[in-house]
Amino acid sequence: MLFTIFGATGDLTTKKLIPALYRLYEEEQLPDPFTIVCIGRRHYETASFVAEIREKIEGEYPHWEAFQGRIHYLTMDFSVEANFEIFKLYVASLNLSQGGQKIYYLATAPHYFPIIARALIVNQMIVRGDMRSKIVFEKPFGEDLDTAKAYNRLLLESIEESQVYRIDHYLGKEMLQNVLTVRFANKIFESIWNHENIENIKIVALESESVKQRGGYYDRSGALKDMVQNHLFQTLALVAMDSPMGLSDTLIKNQKVEVLENLQISDDIVFGQYAGYLQEKGIPVDSKTETFVAIKAYVNTQRWRNTPFYLMTGKKMSHKLAEIIVTFKDASCFFEKGQPEKNTLTIEIFPREGIVLKFNGKAPGLQAYTMPMRLDYCHMCNVVGNSAEAYEKLILDVIHDDSSLFTRWDEIESSWRIIDSINRMKRFEPLHVYQSESEIMQVVDEKWRNA
Ligand code: BG6
Repeated sequence: MLFTIFGATGDLTTKKLIPALYRLYEEEQLPDPFTIVCIGRRHYETASFVAEIREKIEGEYPHWEAFQGRIHYLTMDFSVEANFEIFKLYVASLNLSQGGQKIYYLATAPHYFPIIARALIVNQMIVRGDMRSKIVFEKPFGEDLDTAKAYNRLLLESIEESQVYRIDHYLGKEMLQNVLTVRFANKIFESIWNHENIENIKIVALESESVKQRGGYYDRSGALKDMVQNHLFQTLALVAMDSPMGLSDTLIKNQKVEVLENLQISDDIVFGQYAGYLQEKGIPVDSKTETFVAIKAYVNTQRWRNTPFYLMTGKKMSHKLAEIIVTFKDASCFFEKGQPEKNTLTIEIFPREGIVLKFNGKAPGLQAYTMPMRLDYCHMCNVVGNSAEAYEKLILDVIHDDSSLFTRWDEIESSWRIIDSINRMKRFEPLHVYQSESEIMQVVDEKWRNA
């Protein structure tokens, strides 16, 4: 197998791709022999590139010595189509065994996608219908609806949809995969999963980190395109979709598209930018890019009539946290002592993977007081060793031709339509500069309280 990473000097290769490939190697899940070619525009020798990666990645890598021998670095400007001749010669010089898979992973900013894809196609490095050659696109797929459509057209003119993998690594996360299981394998949840019983649903993905070295990419994206168009909308689609007629990939994706098609964004949006963003590397001094966004939305289906969905994501928050909180309506309550709280079901994605159900029970003692109680399930505690990282699972799925956890074109298309409309609203909304999480949350609270 030849696994090529374009844009390999970026954060993603060090943080996610190489660690995931390493783990798969350690678990003997990679086809053997395999070769990893990392392509970037920055000049490196393979040895210095590999040494730098090793220095940056965290954790235990007992078999690194053997693994690193599989990594090669090629300095190449992939924005120039003619350079792919060099890449072709380089691959030939590696004397790879014939007949293995060729996976091209585009870990670049999206505007490079068409250039790289076209060059791979023209040079017959990816060939229509040959399932040994596949192409993986990091998100976001496109920069808006029009560019996404153009990229997609370009691809499908020359290769099959089954050779195209549009990744959204949230879909590979354990607890996101768990959403459908929890919903549809339990009478107790699915039977009350609707507007009659649920007051609101919050989907939150907060991060403490800044944009770090990714300014060039991030400033063209912002939180909307970097997180909402993909991770948050995909999470919402899983949480809100109607029950599919079966658990096939197509039926599930059809239901997810229904949610996105029926999503209505209210105009109570809060955009924020962390203080200090304009001083980050690669950011224009007058940038209006949002690093925080809070959205209130409605899913206009029978199931969710008038139920608000709150989506929130931001950088430079007090800590990293990703979760889904389902808040149920008040119970009609005849208990006079103790204040019954609303039931909540929290699906914890990060830092803990788990599920917490809050309900009311009787306080111990002689009096009939109600008291909040918790059923607490720790998902990660049940795994021996490390639970699979999202990228590990998804890379393995590409190798095995399984696209069920990748986004289908119509999901992307619907998501972009909504993001484009939010971007149009953005022009009329203030951009709140925030020093801290509490400061921007206060703005959100006020906005939503008065809405
Ligand atoms: C990526 C975004 O897709 O997701 C990053 O580009 C973000 O900006 C990251 O930091 C968050 O992913 P995770 O898995 O760390 O929650």
